[in-house]
Amino acid sequence: MENYKKEENQIIMCGIIGIASRDKNVKGRLVDSLKRLEYRGYDSSGIALRIKDGIFIKKRQGRVAELEEELKGNTFNSEVGIGHTRWATHGEPSCKNSHPHTDCTGKIALVHNGIIENYKELKKELEDSGHIFTSSTDTEVIAHLIEENLKEYTFIEAFRKAVKTLEGSFAIVALFSEEGSLYVARKDSPLVIGIGDRENFVASDVPAFLPWTDRVIFLEDGEMCKMTPNSVETYNFEGKSLKKEVIKVPWNLAQAEKGGYKHFMLKEIYEQGKAVGDTIGARLERDDEKVALEGDFPIPPEEIERILILACGTSYHAGLVGKFYLEEISGIPVYVDYGSEFRYRKPIINEKTLVIAVSQSGETADTIGAVRLAREKGARIISICNVLGSTLTRISDVTFHTYAGPEISVASTKAFTTQLSLFFLLALDLGSRRGFLSDEKEREYVREILSLPVKIEDILKKDKKEGIIREIAVKISSARNALYLGRNVNYPIALEGALKLKEISYIHAEGYPAGEMKHGPIALIDEETPTVFIATESSVLKKVKSNMEEIKSRNGKIISLVSDGEKELSELSDYIIRVPGINEYLAPILNIIPLQLLAYHAADYLGHDVDQPRNLAKSVTVE
Ligand code: M6R
Repeated sequence: MENYKKEENQIIMCGIIGIASRDKNVKGRLVDSLKRLEYRGYDSSGIALRIKDGIFIKKRQGRVAELEEELKGNTFNSEVGIGHTRWATHGEPSCKNSHPHTDCTGKIALVHNGIIENYKELKKELEDSGHIFTSSTDTEVIAHLIEENLKEYTFIEAFRKAVKTLEGSFAIVALFSEEGSLYVARKDSPLVIGIGDRENFVASDVPAFLPWTDRVIFLEDGEMCKMTPNSVETYNFEGKSLKKEVIKVPWNLAQAEKGGYKHFMLKEIYEQGKAVGDTIGARLERDDEKVALEGDFPIPPEEIERILILACGTSYHAGLVGKFYLEEISGIPVYVDYGSEFRYRKPIINEKTLVIAVSQSGETADTIGAVRLAREKGARIISICNVLGSTLTRISDVTFHTYAGPEISVASTKAFTTQLSLFFLLALDLGSRRGFLSDEKEREYVREILSLPVKIEDILKKDKKEGIIREIAVKISSARNALYLGRNVNYPIALEGALKLKEISYIHAEGYPAGEMKHGPIALIDEETPTVFIATESSVLKKVKSNMEEIKSRNGKIISLVSDGEKELSELSDYIIRVPGINEYLAPILNIIPLQLLAYHAADYLGHDVDQPRNLAKSVTVE
């Protein structure tokens, strides 16, 4: 059926679920959970159930819906089971390579996320001892290794010895048919335990089991557990028993469901008024005039010499806006770098360097790698993160949470606007503590930031009522290329607007500083290429207007994002989108919203899978 071969550098990210329950309908719940995890990977999926005579396994290439279809009419069910949805970037995904994988006896089934670096050596040794492999994955090695260890040890010991032998990264859930318990281990790959009522869960991410519990245990690297419906015993890889804290996550089921919206992305765009309101509201003093952050800076504010912001993708764009806020409001020099670039540099860092790591998921491997390097060099770490208990939060000195709620759509939206809001608050707090910002100015900024939620709602209400953005999206959906231009604090918004369009509509789009256009990209302009200008009220608006004229005189199509009441730019523009006026620094938080909607409507009109765009996964947990 396939000739897929795992390559040395194959990158795999996946969603894992395991359920041990008194309820017999584990099969349906595994499939339900896999659907919730599909944003992590959607090339193939599979489940394993403990049944009377052993283990029942069903796998399917393609979406979880196909697995569900395959399972229709199937009468097997169980109280214990595991499931997996997979995403691969190298090599063809296939049924044979899908998880769960088993040992020779078929008594052990397991799912895995990560990469086993020493799998070739282990596979050779196991084959020499007579083990027969049926897939070309690294994962299958783990099942045979446990089987081999079982010759001498109890299952828990066999499992522990196996995970200790593995090199690389892994989140593993193993099912042993003779016991009906689940065995779980974690190293450099996300895994969280859910504590239910006479049932327990394990998954790559909380939304997988949110319908059944919001009480969780975050496993650390080097930790494992044995799970039954009534118990969760945790150990470290040395076998020492551990006592772990159970935490209630502040997320609810409604947040993790579409709630009548066609796509998660649209729902999440529409949640931004509340998400930004929650993120800000939690950090203002009762009189609403001063910022009161919940954590202290790991370096006294007056001693910070420079700030280094590390992030990837949309979070990187938030960092670029954050640089403006921090430099202009708190007077500290700021550098911004991609996690994937920074981690391979020889960075100049000292103990007066404050690193701010930004990540929605807190599991992005490149950001985490960059933070670890910065820490080694002596930096202190603050993170801005949306996921409580994620890896990034555990390696940071202080974390400021964005209260966006679960973000399911691969295209990040509400995480971005809440990250910008938090950056603004950080800048105000640092500025005032360093004496760079007067109390009066801080109060003025606080009043402005408090107006954000209502203004966001106004944009969204208008979109629903007038549908102008959808009309423009339909018009640009036939374009092959698009340019997004902005200046100053809106330049990162041009980058983010372009990223949104390309990742879900597959239209090539480039974000550029408007003033740089004449140094090259202007050659792209023709009647077919739309240019989106971010031209809201600002100190550089006149300059942006000149750039528009340059495009107009070359017959380019112009879509302008302008402040309410603006008249002059209408003549230059083919299409106009209006947003409420606000302080220049806060404008990016409003300006990105119509651009998210533009990308959404274009992708939806083109019939693309908006929430799960091709080749992408929500959390990029490998480098
Ligand atoms: O979870 P993170 O914020 O660390 O993720 C970083 C990027 O992978 C992410 O923002 C990605 O670029 C999104 N698909 C953008 O919409």
